[in-house]
Amino acid sequence: MTKKIQVNEQEIIYLEHHNNLLECIEQANIEIEYHCRDGFCGACRVRLDSGQIAYPQGEPLAFVGEGEILPCCCIPMSDVKLTID
Ligand code: FES
Repeated sequence: MTKKIQVNEQEIIYLEHHNNLLECIEQANIEIEYHCRDGFCGACRVRLDSGQIAYPQGEPLAFVGEGEILPCCCIPMSDVKLTID
């Protein structure tokens, strides 16, 4: 099922073949930091402004603040709105 992902002012689409939100953001050529791609380092942290996400492999180990998510290991459960600083 596709989902609409709004990243800052841009709207992109999360497709069936994407494994996580980070892949979707990268394929839209939106600049985002990352390192481990596995929920350990926290480098990919972004703000979740609205919508629901899930961590299919379980809660990540990296620190995430209130309202923040790690796109490298989460998938959208609804349309979501993100802010990348
Ligand atoms: S890239 Fe390391 S936690 Fe996402």
